[in-house]
Amino acid sequence: MYEKIIGATEYIKSKLEKTPEIGIILGSGLQPLAEEIKEPIIIDYKDVSNMPFASAPGHIARFVCGEIEGKQVICMQGRLHGYEGHQPEDIVFPVRVMKFLGVKTLVLTNAAGGINTDYSVGDFMMITDHINFTGKSPLTGKNDDRIGPRFHDMTFTYTPSLQEIARKASQKTGIKLHEGVYIGVNGPQFETPAEIRAFRTLGADAVGMSTVFEAIEAAHCSINVLGISMITNMAAGIIMKELSGSEVNETADNRSETFRKLVKAIIAEIS
Ligand code: HPA
Repeated sequence: MYEKIIGATEYIKSKLEKTPEIGIILGSGLQPLAEEIKEPIIIDYKDVSNMPFASAPGHIARFVCGEIEGKQVICMQGRLHGYEGHQPEDIVFPVRVMKFLGVKTLVLTNAAGGINTDYSVGDFMMITDHINFTGKSPLTGKNDDRIGPRFHDMTFTYTPSLQEIARKASQKTGIKLHEGVYIGVNGPQFETPAEIRAFRTLGADAVGMSTVFEAIEAAHCSINVLGISMITNMAAGIIMKELSGSEVNETADNRSETFRKLVKAIIAEIS
């Protein structure tokens, strides 16, 4: 695995003039953020050896590198999900590559179903903690100490200083930002109302099919993490209404501009 990571890192490095400081994984609705990168350098996943293929609807499969708000970033325009058939270890491959590229901060964005009844469709939530309900870990198997330790702490996975930056960006832009716990599931089916009631009892505020593996690996290899969810729908049974992928995409599209504004305001303040 180590050699594969270094191989992919060297390839990406050979295409870049500057070292990216911030990694951004774009969830549904944030994909257009990559189009705002100045002097973008585009690297297709298919050209990076061992990089898995992204196939989720609306997700392109490429890295877009360059400058946003004066910061050098590497964006994943096209996320990898377990429901596409990827193994957790493959999903975090690009996070490991980012580490070896020199990335210090990872911004994870996603679309999520709202469990907390104080939330409304179109709201944003900063992830203060997560529950990994997938039953899997990207760290299963032999550990490589060159990447991170065998047993690593998850207490401060969502970096407190980045949360403070996000709060300030919310105030500055006037874009409301809830704070809550994200529960990560495998999908691809949406949850049953009984599952959502159980998740609420467990302490979750929003549910989604991504993010937890990436955050686990970032903590493993010592990258600071900020997580922002867009509440694209209320979770199953919160309002008695059927869920659909098109509802998720519709909200994501409608709120995309505001989401981008918030994320850019955050990036501007990351040092
Ligand atoms: N459940 C799981 N994942 C999701 C949802 C949901 O309701 N909405 C967006 N991603």
